Amino acid sequence: MKIQIINGPNLNLLGKRETSIYGSRSFEDFLEVLKTRFPSVELNYYQSNVEGEIINKLHEVGFTFDGIVLNAGAYTHTSVAIHDAIGGITTPVVEVHISNVHAREEFRHKSLITSKCVGMLTGFGMEGYAMAVTFLINKEKN
Ligand code: DQA
Repeated sequence: MKIQIINGPNLNLLGKRETSIYGSRSFEDFLEVLKTRFPSVELNYYQSNVEGEIINKLHEVGFTFDGIVLNAGAYTHTSVAIHDAIGGITTPVVEVHISNVHAREEFRHKSLITSKCVGMLTGFGMEGYAMAVTFLINKEKN
């Protein structure tokens, strides 16, 4: 089973960026934990700060992989193009946010991508990525 994790803008700074909100662990560290927790899954990781590159990655994996876990960062709240890209592919996408976007500024309450995703996990910290992977594995089994 192949799952692609995609992190959007500023998520390369996890572990350094606003640690009171996002925690002090880098995603690279957490990825190692994820890989040991899901040894039977091929977990691929991609991060970009560039909207078009995120779209290119969605197109690249979106017809062959079994699932995509997407934290589009701030593009979540602005990107019609990422909304359309998710709508144009066949691989199911789970939207993840580390923080609880609904407990934060009002501009974060609206996601332009949720309607094209299978579902959304928000506020569970890094564990949200593990929850999304678990969902995609179980979905595949059932
Ligand atoms: C985020 C929430 C977004 O509002 C923000 O722009 C991010 C990170 C999260 O993981 O909590 O960059 O997606």
